[in-house]
Amino acid sequence: MPTPTPADKFTFGLWTIGYNGTDPFGGPTRPPLDVVHAVEKLAELGAAGLTFHDDDLFAFGSSDAERQTQIDRLKGALADTGLTVPMVTTNLFSAPVFKDGGFTSNDRSVRRFAIRKVLRQIDLGAELGAQTFVMWGGREGAEYDSAKDVRQALERYREAVNFLGDYVVEKGYDLRFAIEPKPNEPRGDILLPTVGHALAFIDSLARPELVGLNPEVGHEQMAGLNFAAGIAQALYHGKLFHIDLNGQRGIKYDQDLVFGHGDLHNAFALVDLLENGGPNGGPAYDGPRHFDYKPSRTEDETGVWDSAAANMRTYLLLKERAAAFRADPEVQEALEAARVAELAQPTFGEGETYDDFVADRSAYEDFDTDAYLGGKGFGFVRLQQLATEHLLGARGIR
Ligand code: GCO
Ligand code: MN
Ligand code: MN
Repeated sequence: MPTPTPADKFTFGLWTIGYNGTDPFGGPTRPPLDVVHAVEKLAELGAAGLTFHDDDLFAFGSSDAERQTQIDRLKGALADTGLTVPMVTTNLFSAPVFKDGGFTSNDRSVRRFAIRKVLRQIDLGAELGAQTFVMWGGREGAEYDSAKDVRQALERYREAVNFLGDYVVEKGYDLRFAIEPKPNEPRGDILLPTVGHALAFIDSLARPELVGLNPEVGHEQMAGLNFAAGIAQALYHGKLFHIDLNGQRGIKYDQDLVFGHGDLHNAFALVDLLENGGPNGGPAYDGPRHFDYKPSRTEDETGVWDSAAANMRTYLLLKERAAAFRADPEVQEALEAARVAELAQPTFGEGETYDDFVADRSAYEDFDTDAYLGGKGFGFVRLQQLATEHLLGARGIR
């Protein structure tokens, strides 16, 4: 079994391992988790870092002294274990004041309060050396179409993100923003529901270079989308700033299962892309592998740490299997037969003009389209079966 080390860059949200089991139908099934204990356990398991919302570390409404005590306790635990805080985020969704959202609440005073709360957390993130600030707008949305002017809401969202961009530049912080899309839950419909919506929004910002994405496996899958394909597009646009790994089984509520405990084929494709999809077959992404899952409420504390370890172990197993898949001569041959590399070849020849193109009879007049009826199969299914056999451990590593 592969063993995680900090070099694997595995990180966990304090709210993930700290999830106490509360759901809309029942209260906690576990006691609160102390941050110092969390950091010690994660270090023991081989994780590299911890991430948190302001309210995970110090309860909403804490006094300055209470807040500082918790920050100092966290700093002490980080110093003792070597864990880092590569990302922080703000809770703009739990407190009653955010019932209609933070940046896009219809109530202007709430919007101003939300931005102040974010500024405080940006300062803390910078102090702790975080390089990424995640913005998940779970409450930014609506249940009723007539209740929210979506174009104005996007304008207010944009105003907020532009303001925060100016703030980090003026402060000289080495911090970039990562927007996390989600289609619904807690709101009936959330603004910036998918990777694609968020990419278009980022393009409209004053400092688009400062803002990227933090896509989450389950969120795209809740919308019926292919997560690995969404990540490929985020990478294509240079916008994969961070990633939330977990598991989801189809279009339903946000399950936040352990990574791989949902669509395992897609998890394999994802790890293959992250680890082997870069130039020359190296990693396509070198940031934190961040788990945003929930230990199911059926679990006790042992189950919490087993599930945390399971995320990392599954990732490493998939990484091993993706490497074996790439190295398998039969896979190489199947990739070749499927003409996967041919897609890298431009459709037009170098310097080919419109006239050259139209004069090329092989492109049209002499092109044998009949050959595609019953012939010229691509062999994609064979390739997928080889991936499946590697995934099952039936080929390569045993
Ligand atoms: C969710 C989200 C959150 C965010 C977190 C960090 O569905 O609840 O995934 O867990 O990732 O708020 O921004
Ligand atoms: Mn989620
Ligand atoms: Mn998330």
